[in-house]
Amino acid sequence: MKEPTFLKAMVQKAQARQVLEIGTFDGTSALAMAEMLPADGTVITCEINPGLASLARKRFSRSPHGRKIEVLVGPASATLGSLTGPFDLIFIDADTENYVHYYYRAMDLLAQTGVLLLDNMRGITLDPVDHGRDPAVRAIEELSRIIAADTRVVADFKAVRDGVLVITMAPDGP
Ligand SMILES: C[S@@+](CC[C@H](N)C(=O)[O-])C[C@H]1O[C@@H](n2cnc3c(N)ncnc32)[C@H](O)[C@@H]1O
Repeated sequence: MKEPTFLKAMVQKAQARQVLEIGTFDGTSALAMAEMLPADGTVITCEINPGLASLARKRFSRSPHGRKIEVLVGPASATLGSLTGPFDLIFIDADTENYVHYYYRAMDLLAQTGVLLLDNMRGITLDPVDHGRDPAVRAIEELSRIIAADTRVVADFKAVRDGVLVITMAPDGP
């Protein structure tokens, strides 16, 4: 399954109205999610590169769903500090070295019935030669341990693109 198709299914599963994305790039995933939102739904997407943000905004302006999307430019760690939530769906797809920080912040911002998606979680295949030294791989390994011990959540690994971990709240809580 292609990732935009997967993301659309996740928006439906979460019955999402408010979506947060870390990592806009050219806007493909933000637009796919926006297409599945109701007319009053919103996608806030964070992008560090102003040129890419501008490219994505141009793309959104050509879509009837683009008005649902707001691009926030800057390092996501700073942008996340300015957001309040709750979000029904959060998709983390940038800056893998900081995934542990993003996980904790996303858990603060996620609705009780929300869905958190972490892309690139098939960390050991990112660069097998550097395994053990690559900080991105180490971050994924550390986060995997943290999530496995987090009694608040249930995690389900999906073999989509670089491996997406789907996090939902445990039905019986911690
Ligand atoms: C893998 S791409 C996102 C792809 C997009 N989600 C999609 O599927 O269409 C990652 C993006 O995150 C941006 N990025 C990298 N580090 C970032 C950071 N610290 N804060 C915000 N965006 C960042 C990159 O510039 C890049 O555009």
